[in-house]
Amino acid sequence: MRFAVFLALGAGCAAAVPAHDVLSQTSLLKGKRKMNLLQEVPGLVPLPSAAKVAGLDTNNIQGDILVGMKKKQERFIFWTINDPARFKSTLRAFIVPQITSVQQLLSTTTQPLVALNVAFSQTGLQALNITDNLSDAAFSRGQFADANALGDPDPTKNGTAWVDAFRGTNIHGVFLLASDNATLLDAQEVVVNSSMGSAISVVYTLQGSIRPGPQAGHEAFGYLDGVSQPHVDGFGTAFPGQQTIDPGVILVGEQGDSLSAKRPAWTTDGSFLAFRQLKQLVPEWNKFIASSAPGVPGLTHAQSVALHGARLVGRWKSGAPVDLSPLVDNATLGADPTLNNNFDYTHQGFDLSSDQSHCPFASHVRKTRPRADLDAAPNSIIRAGIPYGPEVTDDELTSATSTLDRGLAFVSYQSQIAKGFRFIQASWANNEKFSFGKNDTTPGFDAVIGANRGGQRFMSGYDINDASKDLSLLTDFVVSKGGEYFFSPSISALRDFITAP
Ligand code: HEM
Ligand SMILES: *[C@@H]1O[C@H](CO)[C@@H](O)[C@H](O)[C@H]1NC(C)=O
Ligand SMILES: *[C@@H]1O[C@H](CO)[C@@H](O)[C@H](O)[C@H]1NC(C)=O
Ligand SMILES: *[C@@H]1O[C@H](CO)[C@@H](O)[C@H](O)[C@H]1NC(C)=O
Ligand SMILES: *[C@@H]1O[C@H](CO)[C@@H](O)[C@H](O)[C@H]1NC(C)=O
Ligand SMILES: *[C@@H]1O[C@H](CO)[C@@H](O)[C@H](O)[C@H]1NC(C)=O
Ligand SMILES: *[C@@H]1O[C@H](CO)[C@@H](O)[C@H](O)[C@H]1NC(C)=O
Ligand SMILES: *[C@@H]1O[C@H](CO)[C@@H](O)[C@H](O)[C@H]1NC(C)=O
Repeated sequence: MRFAVFLALGAGCAAAVPAHDVLSQTSLLKGKRKMNLLQEVPGLVPLPSAAKVAGLDTNNIQGDILVGMKKKQERFIFWTINDPARFKSTLRAFIVPQITSVQQLLSTTTQPLVALNVAFSQTGLQALNITDNLSDAAFSRGQFADANALGDPDPTKNGTAWVDAFRGTNIHGVFLLASDNATLLDAQEVVVNSSMGSAISVVYTLQGSIRPGPQAGHEAFGYLDGVSQPHVDGFGTAFPGQQTIDPGVILVGEQGDSLSAKRPAWTTDGSFLAFRQLKQLVPEWNKFIASSAPGVPGLTHAQSVALHGARLVGRWKSGAPVDLSPLVDNATLGADPTLNNNFDYTHQGFDLSSDQSHCPFASHVRKTRPRADLDAAPNSIIRAGIPYGPEVTDDELTSATSTLDRGLAFVSYQSQIAKGFRFIQASWANNEKFSFGKNDTTPGFDAVIGANRGGQRFMSGYDINDASKDLSLLTDFVVSKGGEYFFSPSISALRDFITAP
């Protein structure tokens, strides 16, 4: 009987996972979910109720695309296909029926114990004989070829931070497993492994987790993350200050995807997934912020240090925007999604082209969404990343040196990588001349993610009382370990096209 189950799961490399394990792991995954697999974080826009999403085919869209924020745990499993025919039939029989949709994630009662999504790189589609042109040049080339354009130090050189698995185009796809429980993630991984057997080789795995206790929902530097996401028209209602975008800005083939006519029909309701492993040097950042904070009259040293960090990010640790609360943090404001996104950098009696007393031009949030600074077509993404790595240890804190790897497993979804992630990183964050039209014509690099191929950076406007001074950023506190570009197809495309016999 055990043997029969083992065969039914189709394990090709039998030695890896004993049959009884697969059986017990499979049964672990059969239970019913009692707790939300997503953390409800005060300050973030709540998910729309299942009834309010009538405009989109939410049963057909992979869940992570629109409901990716605040998974409690997530495991990214990157693989290369060895046996395309067997991969296809296994995906069809065992994986596709388990793919989690947007609709399923909207309520605890419909969430699976472990959510499962899948996405393919260009070389992964090629391995499956899918030669359609998706009309996304960045996707076609892969991220390794894009490293220079993204501002990374040359990853073909030794000694750079790129993870070996990301160097090249060897990664064919990724499974995204999300849950609130590592035992369940392990169980799902065993089942995926054993069903795929030797059809794939896993080349890299990254485990992400929401941070513990009161840091839940905050990224590794300590700032609340995921506060400002665009509102996708047809998916819930907009909160004050939220940017409403056409669904086609995120979903291929939908209203607002300017390349719809060039996309093969099967790509409709899919989305491009940009993955980046971004290492954060947290103790180094803390030390730098403490040592470079300008003294501010009326504030204690600790308060001026907190202000300095907040002005580099554009939000306080609570999530409150410095544009609305320019001198001190305000936790009430940070926790209120009807107030904390309702700003656009304009203020009565202040000139938008020169005022940095509320928020520096080069702060992370102002660079990545310029609001009133730029009247332009939306270069918008949905962010679905999660922190990875352990909390900072006492030793790291005292030595102000990172010895452990931690940061952000960054994920963004967009219908065109060139307009989404790539544009925001390369044309805004890394562009010292952006925003345009300011009295200071070189506002500098995004203080958090701006990258200069490892070279030194600067930002203007960091000192609330003297906008004429620049801040030198001699080292990067966010270091790219590389990544890959993927396409996350609709569930019907997985079933009726990609794995069709
Ligand atoms: C380790 C790297 C990163 C850290 C620590 C980080 C941190 C943050 C924080 C704290 C916020 C403010 C809270 C929020 O609105 O969610 C934010 C917002 C944002 N980030 Fe990042 N981020 C990182 C990487 C990136 C990258 C690579 C991009 C895109 C290229 C990006 C794009 C954005 C956008 C678009 C917003 C929202 C801005 C707004 O709408 O006001 N971030 N990030
Ligand atoms: C891909 O095409 C080749 C050549 O026509 C064929 O031998 C192979 O079986 C195909 N693979 C799949 C997974 O369809
Ligand atoms: C794919 O299509 C785009 C335009 O949609 C075109 O620029 C590109 O050359 C095409 N690539 C190939 C390999 O045909
Ligand atoms: C990088 O290091 C490997 C071994 O560690 C070596 O084989 C290779 O030649 C080096 N490449 C360069 C460009 O230095
Ligand atoms: C995780 O799931 C396993 C299997 O259902 C269960 O035994 C364990 O108690 C769970 N752990 C937590 C922290 O909920
Ligand atoms: C799944 O397989 C990979 C290697 O292919 C291995 O590293 C990993 O530990 C396996 N996972 C589990 C949970 O057995
Ligand atoms: C904090 O923000 C809330 C909401 O905007 C506001 O009502 C309150 O006055 C603020 N508190 C302080 C101390 O500014
Ligand atoms: C821009 O204007 C601000 C505010 O008037 C001023 O402090 C700053 O020196 C000006 N910067 C430049 C480069 O002119």
